[in-house]
Amino acid sequence: MAKLSTIEKWFVNRRGESYFEKFLRKIKESGTVNLDNSSKILELGGGNGALSSLLYERFHPLSITLTDFDQEQVATARKRLEDKFGKVPETINIQQADATHLQYQDGTFDLVVAHLVLHHLGKLKDIYTGLEEVHRVLRASGTFVYVESKYKQEIRKHLEEMGFEILYRKGFYQETVIATKIDSSKDR
Ligand SMILES: C[S@@+](CC[C@H](N)C(=O)[O-])C[C@H]1O[C@@H](n2cnc3c(N)ncnc32)[C@H](O)[C@@H]1O
Repeated sequence: MAKLSTIEKWFVNRRGESYFEKFLRKIKESGTVNLDNSSKILELGGGNGALSSLLYERFHPLSITLTDFDQEQVATARKRLEDKFGKVPETINIQQADATHLQYQDGTFDLVVAHLVLHHLGKLKDIYTGLEEVHRVLRASGTFVYVESKYKQEIRKHLEEMGFEILYRKGFYQETVIATKIDSSKDR
């Protein structure tokens, strides 16, 4: 994986909460994601923190773990939340994390979100490692929501092979996908 250049960071960090409103509308229209004050959310490659900030305001989940591989992005997200809320809300943890080597325990999260992050993880094999980490840290029947513009078919195929069911897919160049981790205990 490579860090974004200064110009790329400038470009992606212009996205504010209003940009992510559209993303949340898609999630709502899918009718497949239930978020409430008991939800534990992990955002991968969260960039400037605007999406996590919006998720916090909308759903007041039990916790949001907002992560990025790049320490500079982590600092940008922290500053955004401090500027917006006076201090980082207690239910939001901002951490440096590599999406291909997550330090969280199995089954920790109800929802994992990755907005235009997966293709930044490296080659296809690194993306598959990242997807396996998502599968590991999600609880059974948990939800993975992502937006991607590259390796779209390969990612979906790998998710299904790993034990996700694709519930929703929308978009052509950039597709929004909602997948649920199949609860294998229900097969027994
Ligand atoms: C295109 S930006 C998207 C940022 C944000 N999700 C958005 O849509 O505005 C990709 C982000 O992924 C982060 N990233 C790259 N490799 C990563 C990795 N291995 N683990 C976690 N984050 C990573 C980058 O630092 C960058 O902030």
